[in-house]
Amino acid sequence: MAVPSDAELLQAQADLWRHTLCYLTPMALRCAVELGIPTAIHRLGGAASPSDLIAALSLPPSKLSFLGRLLSQLATAGVFDSTDDMGTATYRLKPISYLLVDGVHIEGDACQTAIVRAASSRYYVEAALGLSEWFKKDFEGPVPSPFEDLHGATIFDDSMALLDPEMDKLVHEAKASHNHMGIGLVLRQCRELFQELESLTDLCGGDGTTARAIVRAYPHIKCTVMDLPKVIDKAPAEGVIKYVAGDIFHAVPPAQAVLLKSVLHLWSDEDCIKILAQCKKAIPPRGAGGKVIVIDIVLSSASGLMLETHHLVDMLKLVMTRGRQRDEKDWSDIFMKAGFSEYKVFKKVGARTVIEVYP
Ligand SMILES: C[S@@+](CC[C@H](N)C(=O)[O-])C[C@H]1O[C@@H](n2cnc3c(N)ncnc32)[C@H](O)[C@@H]1O
Repeated sequence: MAVPSDAELLQAQADLWRHTLCYLTPMALRCAVELGIPTAIHRLGGAASPSDLIAALSLPPSKLSFLGRLLSQLATAGVFDSTDDMGTATYRLKPISYLLVDGVHIEGDACQTAIVRAASSRYYVEAALGLSEWFKKDFEGPVPSPFEDLHGATIFDDSMALLDPEMDKLVHEAKASHNHMGIGLVLRQCRELFQELESLTDLCGGDGTTARAIVRAYPHIKCTVMDLPKVIDKAPAEGVIKYVAGDIFHAVPPAQAVLLKSVLHLWSDEDCIKILAQCKKAIPPRGAGGKVIVIDIVLSSASGLMLETHHLVDMLKLVMTRGRQRDEKDWSDIFMKAGFSEYKVFKKVGARTVIEVYP
C-alpha cells in the first residue's frame, strides 16, 4: 500500500482512537445502569439535568461535572437525547434507554439491564481479552470457546453455577430478557405462520414464555414445550401448555410444526444438523403442513448499524460459546444436510429473521 496522504493519516489516527476507546461506551452504559440513571430520568417525568440526577440518586455534589461528561458521552452514543438550554443540558430517554428502566412492561417484563450487566462483566471481558492466546492454542478434540478455555465453565451449564452462582443467575436473566422481548411483535407480524397450525413444539422453549404468548394469540394451537429436565422441573403448571423434559439430540415431541427460536446459534453446524434431523422426524410431510420455524439472525441480511450489530453478536458467540451466527448460505447448507427440501425467508423482525423450513 502506498503511504497514505497527510489528511488520510490524521483521519486514520482519529479512527484508531475511536476503535480503541469505544469499549468505554459499554462501561459508561454499565455505570448508568448500576446508578439507575434511566429509571431516575423516567421517575423525574422523562427529562432530567445532571443536577436533578445528582439529587435523585443521592450522589455527592462534587461529582456533578463528571456525571455531565458521562451523560454527554452516552447521548453522543445515542443512548439518551440531549438538549442544551443556556448552558444547562437536559437528558431524555430514547427507546434504547427506555428498555433500561426498572420494571418496564411491554407485553411482559421488557427491562434489558441484565444484558448490559452480563456483557460488560469481568467474565465476558476477560474471555475477550484472552482471544489472541486462544487463537495460538491447538486443542485436541472439540475446540472450547475462549470463555470455556479461560474460566473452565460453559455458559448456561451447571458448571457456570458452580463457578459463580450470582453470575449464572445474571446470565439466565440476560437470556430471558433478551429472548422474551418481542415475541408479541413476531406473532403479530407473522400471522400466516401460525394461524393455520394445529400443533407446535417449542423446542428449547425454556419456561414456556414464548409458548404462552403463542397460545394467547392463537388459542387453537396445541403447544408443547421441550427443554432439559432441570428447566422443565421449574416450569409453571398452568395446564394449557404441555411440558416435556428431554434432550434435543435424542427425540423431539411430534407436532405439525417445530419452533427453534434463538436456539441454533448456540450450536456448531454438526450439532445443528443433528437437531434439525430430529425435528424432521417429529413433523408430518409438507403437504400436511409440516414445517420447522427458525427465528434467528441471518448475517449479511442487513446494512449499516444493524450489520455491525449482527457481527458483534457473532463475535459474542465466538468468545462465549461453540455456536455461531450464520449467513443465508450457511443456513441453507445445514437445512439441506439435515434432509429438508426447501426453505423460505419469511420476514425480518428487528435483528432476527423468521425462516420456514419444509421437509
Ligand atoms: C438460548 S435458550 C433458548 C431460548 C428460547 N427458545 C427462547 O426464545 O426464549 C437455550 C435453551 O436450550 C435448552 N437446552 C440446552 N441444551 C439442551 C438439550 N440438549 N436438550 C433440550 N434443551 C436444551 C436450555 O435449557 C435453554 O433453555
